[in-house]
Amino acid sequence: MTICYPEFDGRTVVVTGAAAGIGRATALAFAAQGAQVAALDRDAAGLESLVSEAEGRVATAVADVADADALLAALDRALEGLGPVRVLVNNAGIDDRRGFEQMTLADWRRTLAINLDPHFVLSQRLTPQMRDAGGGAIVNLSSTAFMKLAANLTSYHAAKAGIVGLTRGLARELGPQGIRVNAIAPGRVVTERVRAHVVTPEWERETRALQCLPELILPEDIAQSALWLASSGARMMTGQVLIVDGGVV
Ligand SMILES: NC(=O)c1ccc[n+]([C@@H]2O[C@H](COP(=O)([O-])OP(=O)(O)OC[C@H]3O[C@@H](n4cnc5c(N)ncnc54)[C@H](O)[C@@H]3O)[C@@H](O)[C@H]2O)c1
Repeated sequence: MTICYPEFDGRTVVVTGAAAGIGRATALAFAAQGAQVAALDRDAAGLESLVSEAEGRVATAVADVADADALLAALDRALEGLGPVRVLVNNAGIDDRRGFEQMTLADWRRTLAINLDPHFVLSQRLTPQMRDAGGGAIVNLSSTAFMKLAANLTSYHAAKAGIVGLTRGLARELGPQGIRVNAIAPGRVVTERVRAHVVTPEWERETRALQCLPELILPEDIAQSALWLASSGARMMTGQVLIVDGGVV
């Protein structure tokens, strides 16, 4: 990939959920710009294949992001020998599809524990070093699903809307320290998981018709948005939600 952001050369970037999909594309995109990427995920095999694809430019550690202690210990392992973190991409997430009446309190809590709590935990851990290093950027993965009233995703919607609130709250508190906090709300992104479990010819037709832009959105499209949001090109942008959905009508 062409180097578009020389400012990331040698910078330390943390990406969660980096073994697959959007997180993987984001880790690879930062690595291609010369960043030192610390990639966290619960999928050990996926992380191993990321390391070989990134040709050693990625350090990894396995953790379930819902377990705060394990997450922070994994973060320390992945960051060993790397410089201060300047960019955090909170990406790991699951979409637990179930009807509201069938949802238990444990289901609800599990979704929030994966999709929202780690954003708080990692931001709190990493922002002091961003500040001390002269500033930084946090990019949180939200979704357009809650804006579109998608069905059977109540706990997911709560988490993704919560991410917007967290993004704005952190932007307010961290701006004076030189730390920008933004969110990306993707529409329908064709990751390997979506390709395997969701994409049918009918889904593809429907998606192309729903969007102003008829191409399908790829993980790399979201990764490019994350790069830009973390870059100095977005230096006066904070507390915002960047919608990347191909222009859904
Ligand atoms: N794909 C889409 O259409 C879409 C749309 C809107 C928002 N998003 C959001 O983008 C983010 C990435 O989604 P994706 O589609 O690339 O997902 P994905 O399922 O392809 O990849 C998610 C990654 O996160 C990891 N992960 C999941 N739970 C984890 C846990 N508890 N601990 C550690 N790692 C965990 C998985 O192992 C996987 O590597 C998510 O936050 C998702 O909600 C995706």
